[in-house]
Amino acid sequence: MEDLAEFYSASARVMTRSLIRELLKLTRRANVISFAGGLPDPSTFPVDELKAITALILEREPHLALQYGPTEGDPRLREELVRWMAKDGIAATRDRVLITTGSQQGLDIIGRVFLDPGDVVVLERPSYMAALQVFRSYRVEMVGVPQDDDGLRPELLEETLAALARSGKRVKIIYVVPDFQNPSGVTLSEKRRQRVLDLAREYHTLVVEDSPYRELAFEGAPPPPLAALDGEGRVIYLSTFSKTLCPGLRIAWMAAGEDLIQQCVTAKQAMDLCCPAFTQAIAAEFCAQGHIYTRIPPITALYRRKRDVMLSALTREMPKGVTWTRPQGGLFLWVRLPEGMDTEQLLGPAVEEEGIAYVVGSGFHADGTGKNTMRLNFSYPSEENIEEGIRRLARLVKRRLPTLTPAP
Ligand SMILES: Cc1ncc(COP(=O)(O)O)c(C=O)c1O
Repeated sequence: MEDLAEFYSASARVMTRSLIRELLKLTRRANVISFAGGLPDPSTFPVDELKAITALILEREPHLALQYGPTEGDPRLREELVRWMAKDGIAATRDRVLITTGSQQGLDIIGRVFLDPGDVVVLERPSYMAALQVFRSYRVEMVGVPQDDDGLRPELLEETLAALARSGKRVKIIYVVPDFQNPSGVTLSEKRRQRVLDLAREYHTLVVEDSPYRELAFEGAPPPPLAALDGEGRVIYLSTFSKTLCPGLRIAWMAAGEDLIQQCVTAKQAMDLCCPAFTQAIAAEFCAQGHIYTRIPPITALYRRKRDVMLSALTREMPKGVTWTRPQGGLFLWVRLPEGMDTEQLLGPAVEEEGIAYVVGSGFHADGTGKNTMRLNFSYPSEENIEEGIRRLARLVKRRLPTLTPAP
């Protein structure tokens, strides 16, 4: 058979299949306790409300819901989202909102509209793995800036931007996940948000603010979105109903200046013409009936409890030298094993010997560092499985610790 790989585009050639995803296939075995996914707890899905709303939509407006719709998205849904964002201080209008098939599509649209090969995207280290995949596919250079417990470190961001400017490189986008970040769980402080905006102005870049977890706040709301602090239309805001309603509807949106949104609409037209009118009508009705507003507190209460179970289990079980973040919201926390341990090497034994899974931390690093880190999800496993899974993880780490080669 002729080798057909020569037909692949340059972009396809740089889309490496992630080793981590391959390893994750192992975790689908029935007896594995998985901290690997980023899935909401399915008990939070509003099945009864969605049944009633689906029937209502099919009765009331099948001619709209089963038809093609505008690329920008259902105007009723966009109105609802304008109201939804206003509670966080984002002053959008319907014309400044584009509905997307998940925020993941929003990221890809941003790649198409703003990025040329060789451009630079500056992002947090670690950063959202699937954003790295998108940016990589547009053949840009990604430069990671370390974080601490208050998020991205602005003095290092400034150094990075200055160094890139000196070497004549064009930074187009600073990409941040400021609220309960995926993967680390940390939140960018308000002062730092302001500083990121100031630096974006000084170095003439856009800011992409990706905020799927903002609503899942366990200890009070996070600081205002960068999009609310931005006085210049420099921020492209991405949000989604995946973690607050359910991911299966694939309803998310971008908010930005009208001109930028229009350019994104043009790009989206070529991708899929429009998001499904049916799921948009359902989401719009779900908002109009007020469910989106009332359902968040029970979800956050559930995830807060699960986070607490995971934190106590880690404190109880983990040996000295292992550290982790204390997220104040979201779905994830971030574990650092002692230097010299390699979580990629550990994943095979974790699945085979202990029946547990996590995501290897290096996949969240644009430069492949972070070998001793891992991401743990606490929203999906049951409280019982969190306890048991952390016990097994700690047992494995303790077993492997003595095999570390002492530093010379
Ligand atoms: C930071 C971040 N951005 C975007 C997404 C994609 O979400 P969606 O389901 O809306 O495509 C996720 C999902 O986990 C995420 O963590």
